[in-house]
Amino acid sequence: MTTYLDHAASTPPRPEAREALDAWLDAANASAVHAAGQRARIAVEEAREHVATAVGASPHDVVFTSGGTEADNLAVKGVVWAARDRSRHVPHVVTTAVEHAAVLEPLRWLAARGDARLTVVDVGRDGRAPVEAVLEAVGDDTVLVSVMTANNELGGVHDVAAIAAALAEREVPVHTDAVQAMATLEVDVAASGVAALAASAHKLGGPQGVGFAVLRRGLAVEPLAHGGGQDRGVRSGTFAAALDAACGAAVRAAVADRGRLRAQLITLADRLAAGLTAIEGVRRNGPAEADQRLASHVHVSVDGVDAAALALQLDRAGIAVASGSACGSGAAAPSHVLTAAGVDGVPLRFSLGWTSTPVDVERAVDVLTDVVPKLRRPVAGVSR
Ligand SMILES: Cc1ncc(COP(=O)(O)O)c(C=O)c1O
Repeated sequence: MTTYLDHAASTPPRPEAREALDAWLDAANASAVHAAGQRARIAVEEAREHVATAVGASPHDVVFTSGGTEADNLAVKGVVWAARDRSRHVPHVVTTAVEHAAVLEPLRWLAARGDARLTVVDVGRDGRAPVEAVLEAVGDDTVLVSVMTANNELGGVHDVAAIAAALAEREVPVHTDAVQAMATLEVDVAASGVAALAASAHKLGGPQGVGFAVLRRGLAVEPLAHGGGQDRGVRSGTFAAALDAACGAAVRAAVADRGRLRAQLITLADRLAAGLTAIEGVRRNGPAEADQRLASHVHVSVDGVDAAALALQLDRAGIAVASGSACGSGAAAPSHVLTAAGVDGVPLRFSLGWTSTPVDVERAVDVLTDVVPKLRRPVAGVSR
């Protein structure tokens, strides 16, 4: 029996998404003029409308992608390259030290090529970048600010709307990676004032391999892939009708269920955090305030144990969590997020989702309560 507590890595597809995937798996090419093609196109456009409604955007602004990584790349590379074409100056971009690799890596790559100048804003111990620090980093040559709505590891939520509001007058576009946020937080492009957003279906009950970018009208974006000119030329390639339809269905279902799910996950996460931190040497990380963190995430550090041994014991007991240990070397390799936030100890990320139950939480607490004391290394100088 597996107790699945790794929903932040991937959450199971909702029935609505499975149904849509199945219904459109043998779709014709949605750009074809014949009736079968037009039916597929309608499925894609309906999915686009579901997504647009869910995030407070115009359907015109929604571009389906292969997932969060491509959506992030499209936003950051696309905006930088478009700005590079317009100006003699190297465009400046501001981001935070806790962004997902899907944002940080393309930005570092652009900087290494001389296509961008990058400022990475530090975060506090809660893994959040202060709004003032982000704003202070913005200069006259800044063409993009990329700040994630919520962090995938520590679950810290950024006040992206405050950043976008402060930058509106200076006309600096804000991109936000909302991949982790959409399942439990309201994400509204119009209300928050962001110019670009990235999301991924498999984090909210859709299939892996599909996601979307919102690129608001007026934001100049260079495409990553050139070809048939689909999706207003921003993302060429045959429409993935089944994946897009499943993404739309998942987003619609997730948003309809979001209030209930959030309330349920707050209760479950509180119970989980209380049970885990009752174990000696287990500390909770991330923001202390509930409104500053995702309802789904409980991140802890375990002191005095071997990371690989803990990961092995949890896996043997059928507890699926993100352990952050580098199995090859047997050594814990702290991620850039944990390093930036100064988190020490052996990290464990428990993430809950739409299939989580109180039984999952009880089982995880029981297993950890049993396993952690047995793995505790003797303290130096103390003979046992
Ligand atoms: C915050 C964040 N951004 C981007 C991604 C990448 O999304 P995808 O797996 O759909 O490429 C992830 C996935 O873990 C994520 O957590």
